[in-house]
Amino acid sequence: MLMQTESKMQREKDIRHIAFIMDGNGRWAKKRGLPREYGHKVGADVFRKTVEYCDDIGIHCVTVYAFSTENWKRPGHEISAIMLLFKQYLKDAVKTMMKRDIRIVFLGDKSPFPKDVVKQMEEIERDSSQNTKRLNIAMNYGGRAEIVHAVNELIAQGYEKITEEDVTNHLYTLDAPMPDLIVRTGGEQRISNFLMWQSAYSELYFTDVLWPDFTESDVDQAVAEYKRRNRRFGGI
Ligand code: IPE
Ligand code: IPE
Ligand code: MG
Repeated sequence: MLMQTESKMQREKDIRHIAFIMDGNGRWAKKRGLPREYGHKVGADVFRKTVEYCDDIGIHCVTVYAFSTENWKRPGHEISAIMLLFKQYLKDAVKTMMKRDIRIVFLGDKSPFPKDVVKQMEEIERDSSQNTKRLNIAMNYGGRAEIVHAVNELIAQGYEKITEEDVTNHLYTLDAPMPDLIVRTGGEQRISNFLMWQSAYSELYFTDVLWPDFTESDVDQAVAEYKRRNRRFGGI
């Protein structure tokens, strides 16, 4: 009986879904006297490594915040640099993800992206759709926009009264588990419109490490801290 309880407790400490607010690229570059774009370039490599490491340690759902609905406020040259890195990622994403049995889902409104990019994003989603593990890439994503989008879909389908489950099922994350742990690098302690609905009971972990400096050992530290937390979900 004791054994059973302990193994259940252990299971509950396993992270099913980890999410990252990858922040601090610009400051990392500025500290080195380099253009912000360079920080994004290094940040993109760290993103690839982090996703693979999470898979290696048995976390089978990962979400990353790559570009927010508010990030369009940035100078055109910085946005262009981020979009170029994104396109480069799209080129090699499928190969790695198929090898690892990871499905890619893009969270956010694809419509502002160029047609060829949208087509590529849709192809990646379709080609990887049968894979069992999952990577969500939040790209032109906003948590409020996501909820509004879900409600508009429900209205279009003729709903007059909705439940929490209805909303959950119309989010971009649909069948993914709720995030157990949200990690934000870069020192700011805020959500910045990320996973507003899904984060209701997520554990939050903030670190001053800037995203381009983020390593496997930083993932380990966040996971270790998560395991020390006591999640009550409103109970006792
Ligand atoms: C996060 O790094 C990446 C994106 C928002 C695209 P930032 O670019 O926000 O870097 P800081 O916060 O200015 O250092
Ligand atoms: C959050 O970072 C968005 C991403 C990491 C993509 P920001 O740098 O945009 O957030 P704020 O402006 O500090 O809140
Ligand atoms: Mg930032």
